[in-house]
Amino acid sequence: MREGEPSFTSILVALGRAYAPRGRDPYPERLASDPWRALAAAGARPGWRRVVRELSIGFVDHLALRTATLDTFVRAAASEGIEQVVLLGAGLDARAWRLGVDARFFEIDHPSTQRLKRERAPSDASTFVPVDFTRDDIGAALASAGHDANARTAWVWEGVTMYLPREAVEATLAIVSRRSASGSRLALSYLDPSAVPLAPLVRVGFRALFGEPLEAGYTPDALRALLDHHRFEVTFDDDSRGWDRAMGGDPRRARLVRGERLAFARRS
Ligand SMILES: C[S@@+](CC[C@H](N)C(=O)[O-])C[C@H]1O[C@@H](n2cnc3c(N)ncnc32)[C@H](O)[C@@H]1O
Repeated sequence: MREGEPSFTSILVALGRAYAPRGRDPYPERLASDPWRALAAAGARPGWRRVVRELSIGFVDHLALRTATLDTFVRAAASEGIEQVVLLGAGLDARAWRLGVDARFFEIDHPSTQRLKRERAPSDASTFVPVDFTRDDIGAALASAGHDANARTAWVWEGVTMYLPREAVEATLAIVSRRSASGSRLALSYLDPSAVPLAPLVRVGFRALFGEPLEAGYTPDALRALLDHHRFEVTFDDDSRGWDRAMGGDPRRARLVRGERLAFARRS
């Protein structure tokens, strides 16, 4: 993150969703800043979608797979009667509007990223909670925004843990754990550095290109142990080969970014 500027990676992933082969996300063209919103709008054209997909070296496919899998997670939680969804590091995620589920959404994000989204949000379906994971008390911020720690919550932490120092990931998990009533669900994506070819080189290149360093990483065993420590039982953990293909993502195309995994967990 560059202080005072919205996260660049949040714009990139929103663009990826706007170019999904099927069921593209139309919200980035409303929520992104210029000139990105025009680029997002071009994703409505099938010809452009095909070209960008080819040029994206698997990124569009990865995003389509990740989005569809987490959409299924949120819909399933809502259909179980979970009435609160907290998006941790929400970026331009438009699930509060896009999915039309009957739940109250809270969006936690860095104030620099959230500023524009607050102005452009299409409705008040979401409660914005500006915090910095490395500095602020997320628990107090959520409580004062109206989050009820005694009711079940579906937590979505998509594409964020890898940009945070390990201490911030673990401090946030401790708060998520304290505010999770029995039956709550947690979905998070994380980076498994052992599955990233030339990981040290990728870290350097990523920082140079996007200005956001790749930080915390976990093997699946280490992540399971960490979630277990915070009293969450892992119910699913896979890389993109095991993700939902409803938006047309093809895991064979997404192999270069396969180091990102998705885990779902349940508070018993
Ligand atoms: C790659 S984006 C993912 C956004 C969204 N979850 C998605 O998948 O579209 C990373 C998000 O993490 C947020 N973030 C990064 N560092 C943060 C910090 N220290 N405190 C709060 N948010 C942070 C950024 O503002 C950004 O929204």
